Amino acid sequence: MRAVICKELGPLENLSVEEVPSAPLLSGHVRLRVLASGVNYVDGLLIQGKYQIKPPTPFIPGMEVVGEVVECFEDVSSALMGKRVLANVGFGGFATEAVVRADRVITIPDTLTTGQAASFLQSYLTGWFALTRRAHMSVQSSGKEQWMLVLGAGGGVGLAAVDIGVALGLKVIAAASSEDKRELARARGAVAVIDSANEDVKERAKEISGGGVDILYDPVGGTLGETCLRALGEDGQYLVIGFVGGIPQLPANQVLLRNRRVIGVDWGAWAGRNPEGNAQLLEEVLAKIAAKQLSPVEPQVYLLSEAAKALADLEQRRVAGKVVLVADEAK
Ligand SMILES: NC(=O)c1ccc[n+]([C@@H]2O[C@H](COP(=O)([O-])OP(=O)(O)OC[C@H]3O[C@@H](n4cnc5c(N)ncnc54)[C@H](OP(=O)(O)O)[C@@H]3O)[C@@H](O)[C@H]2O)c1
Repeated sequence: MRAVICKELGPLENLSVEEVPSAPLLSGHVRLRVLASGVNYVDGLLIQGKYQIKPPTPFIPGMEVVGEVVECFEDVSSALMGKRVLANVGFGGFATEAVVRADRVITIPDTLTTGQAASFLQSYLTGWFALTRRAHMSVQSSGKEQWMLVLGAGGGVGLAAVDIGVALGLKVIAAASSEDKRELARARGAVAVIDSANEDVKERAKEISGGGVDILYDPVGGTLGETCLRALGEDGQYLVIGFVGGIPQLPANQVLLRNRRVIGVDWGAWAGRNPEGNAQLLEEVLAKIAAKQLSPVEPQVYLLSEAAKALADLEQRRVAGKVVLVADEAK
């Protein structure tokens, strides 16, 4: 099989794409012919040794795949043969084959394209976890309008949050640096957009929401996150999601003022400790997708041999929405 190999943690351009032996098929497992591999911001951090987890090398990056089942171990039902499935593999996704536990593969509903299915898992489960399990939402019970400001709203995690917020009845304000990113957010129902490259995001969000937002969904952090804490109104909630712009230094006086709350969201670690709870999250998200209440973005497609470029484009903010890799002969 062909695979992207990280031989040592370091620059993205050191990744190689090589022919390697297929992994052995284990008891309880199936082999997938990978049709698309989702690319996440975290993949680039892991490869460069910038993430809190430092994987032993060499390793094949890539956390989420969609593939066709081409082989089942003898203790696995052959009914899975030929099925188009998705799997959260942790590592090993950037390859033409993957061996995964049969009880972990999920048959993909017809409502999702291969590209969408390979790229929605991390961003949507994070958003669904954040907004239905971590945030204190009263929109359904109170009937009162609730405003959510999403930073990095044209990126994978931000765009999913826009989609989920709208589906949950929030009035979503999307902040993004380019028109194509803002357009993706509008298409998912954002009621207002802010040009984060040229406008004062905090002031605009306060104006649009009539005084202050109820939820700040922040995958960006840095000075933007620090400033936007001040866009929260009374009892406003700051959801700490990610730090692509640096770790924000949140002033405690601004948390005290207006009775704000800061809420951590660590979906990945939680999902590892709570596989059943995570399966429940996925079921809820898939039901919303089937009901057409959520619409994951159709990703941009790169070849497996372009993995380093795809990761660099993501890191340098050149991607609107999501990215997948496909085998070179598939494009
Ligand atoms: N907490 C969790 O459980 C969890 C789960 C998954 C991912 N995450 C985290 O969420 C974050 C976002 O991931 P993602 O997949 O959405 O990434 P992404 O697709 O690359 O989007 C990130 C967005 O952040 C904005 N940005 C602002 N400053 C940036 C900078 N200095 N460098 C790069 N981007 C910058 C960019 O939008 P503009 O150009 O519009 O500014 C970009 O579109 C990552 O930190 C990831 O680790 C957290």
